[in-house]
Amino acid sequence: MATLDLKVAPAIKTADTRAKVKSLTSSCLRLFPFTARRRVLVSLVVMGMALTMPAVAAEKVGLSVDASKTGTKIDRNIFGQFAEHLGHGIYDGIWVGPNSKIPNTRGIRNDVVAALKAIKVPNVRWPGGCFADEYHWRNGVGSQRKVTLNPNWGGVTEPNTFGTHEFMDFINQIGSEAYVSVNLGSGTPNEAADWLEYMTAVAPDTLAKERAANGHPAPYKVAYLGVGNESWDCGGNMTPDYYTSQMKIYSRFVRNYNPAQQVKDQMLKVAVGPGGEEPRFIDWTETVMKAYQHHTWSWEINGLSMHSYTVGRWEDKFKSTDFGENEYAQFLKLTLDMDGLINKYSAIMDKYDPDKKVALFVDEWGSWYAPLPGSNPGFLVQQNSMRDAVLAALNLNIFARHADRVRGANIAQMINVLQAMIMTDKEKMVLTPTYYVFKMYVPFQDATFVPVTFEAGSYTHDNITLPRVDVLAAKDAKGKLWLAITNLDPNQPVELEASVAGITAKSAAGETLTAPKVDSVNSFDAPKTVVPKPVSVVVEGGKLTLQLEPKSVTVVSVEQ
Ligand code: AHR
Repeated sequence: MATLDLKVAPAIKTADTRAKVKSLTSSCLRLFPFTARRRVLVSLVVMGMALTMPAVAAEKVGLSVDASKTGTKIDRNIFGQFAEHLGHGIYDGIWVGPNSKIPNTRGIRNDVVAALKAIKVPNVRWPGGCFADEYHWRNGVGSQRKVTLNPNWGGVTEPNTFGTHEFMDFINQIGSEAYVSVNLGSGTPNEAADWLEYMTAVAPDTLAKERAANGHPAPYKVAYLGVGNESWDCGGNMTPDYYTSQMKIYSRFVRNYNPAQQVKDQMLKVAVGPGGEEPRFIDWTETVMKAYQHHTWSWEINGLSMHSYTVGRWEDKFKSTDFGENEYAQFLKLTLDMDGLINKYSAIMDKYDPDKKVALFVDEWGSWYAPLPGSNPGFLVQQNSMRDAVLAALNLNIFARHADRVRGANIAQMINVLQAMIMTDKEKMVLTPTYYVFKMYVPFQDATFVPVTFEAGSYTHDNITLPRVDVLAAKDAKGKLWLAITNLDPNQPVELEASVAGITAKSAAGETLTAPKVDSVNSFDAPKTVVPKPVSVVVEGGKLTLQLEPKSVTVVSVEQ
C-alpha cells in the first residue's frame, strides 16, 4: 500500500489521480477497524484534504545549482522548425490562399502566424526533406505556377502556389529566419546557384530584376543553406565520396549575394551528415569531416546535419493514441538514445574539427508513429500527446547539454505532420502539448547553460528503467536563472528542493504542463486538456521547493 504523506500533498488536479485517491483511501480505510476508520476519515475531512491527498507519496529530490558557474550559450536555433511540402504541412497548415474564408494575410493563415510568433521560431527549414531533392524553384515563382507531382508524399499534386516569395513572406510574418535546402539530388549546381542569385542579388542583375517584377525588389536574407538532404537515401543514394564531391561544388558555386550578408550574418552552409545508428553513417561522417579538415579557400561548410527520429520499429510503428504506460516508458527510453548518437558523431567531428567550427544540426528529429487510421499514410499524420511533450523536453535538454557542438535542430514537422506544434482542420486550429513545451522553453533561447547536480533515482516500469527526473538550467541575457524540470514518472509526484548558489533567490514563479493520462491529447473539441498551468514555488533561505506532478514538464524563473 502506498504511504499517504499529508505534509507534501500537492493539490489533486486530475481525474485519474482523483480516482486513484478514492481507491487508495478506501483500501487504506479497509485496514482500520470501523471506529479507527471513522477517526481517519474525520481527520482527513477536518484537514480539508480528503481530495488533496496525493495518490502516491512524493519522491523527494534535492538539486544544487550555482548560478555563477556558467557554460556555453544554448543557441536559439536548437528550437528550429521544419516545414516540408508533405501532407497538410504547407497547404492548409500555412497556406490557404488569399481568397480563403479562413483569415489570412496574403494567403498565410493568421491564426498559425500568431501561434508561431509566440514560440519565437528561430528558423524554418524548407522545402524539404526528401521533397527538396526533387524541387525545382522556378515552378514556384511568377504568376504562372506549374502543377507538378509529389511522388515522395502521398502521390498528390503539388500546385506550387506556395513558393519562394510565399515562404519568405511567411518567415517574415512569424519573425524567423530562412533555412533553405537546395536540390542536390535531381537538380544541378547551376539551378541551385540561380535560385540563390534570384533570392539574394540586387539589380541590375537579371534574376534580381525578375524577383522585383514578382513583387520583392529587396534581396531576401537566407540565413542557412542545406546542401542536399539525406543524400545517402532519398536524396540520391550516394556514396560518401560522391556526395562530398557534389557538396564541394555546391558549396563553391551556390552563393549568397545579399549585401547585408557579406560580412555580418553570413549564410551558413549545412552538409548532409549521419542518419542514425547504422555503421555506414560512421564512414559518411568520417568522409565529410575529413574533407572539411583539408578544405581549401574555395569551399567550406559550417554545419553537418544529423537526422534521428524516435521510431522504435519502422514496421508496425507505435500508435500515437490509445496507449498505456508500457508504450510511454518504451518510447521515452528510445528517445534518450539521442544523447549517445550525438556523442558518437561529435567524437568523429572532434577528430577533424577540434575547435568545433562546424556545428552539428539535428535538423530532423521527433516522434514518428503509425499514421492515424483513415489518413493518407504518405501524409504522416499522427496525434501529439503528453508523451510527446516529455519527449520534446528530454531532447531539448540533450541538445542544450551539447551546446558546444549542437547549434541547430529542427523538429519534424511544424504543422500537421509527425510531431507537430500545430494541427489544423479547415478553419480549426489546435496547439499540441509539444507546442507548449516550445513555448515554455522560449527563455532558454540564447541563454547560457548552467550546470546542475541532482540525484533523483529512477522510474521503472516492467523492465524499462528511466531517469526519474531531468533538469536543465540556464541564465538569460538579463542574468535571470531558469530551470526546466521534467518528471518522467507517470505515477509519482516529486517534491523538489533546489539549493541555489551564486544569486540571492528572492522569489520564483513558473508553469507546469501535465495531463490526466500519458496519452492525453489536445483535440479540436477539447483543446485545453494539456496546457500549462501556474505552479507555486516556495523560496526560503536560498532554497526553492516545488511539487512536480507525475509526467510533467515545469519551467520556473528565479528572481533575485
Ligand atoms: O520528415 C519526413 C522525412 O523524413 C523527410 O522528408 C526526410 O528527410 C526524412 O526521411
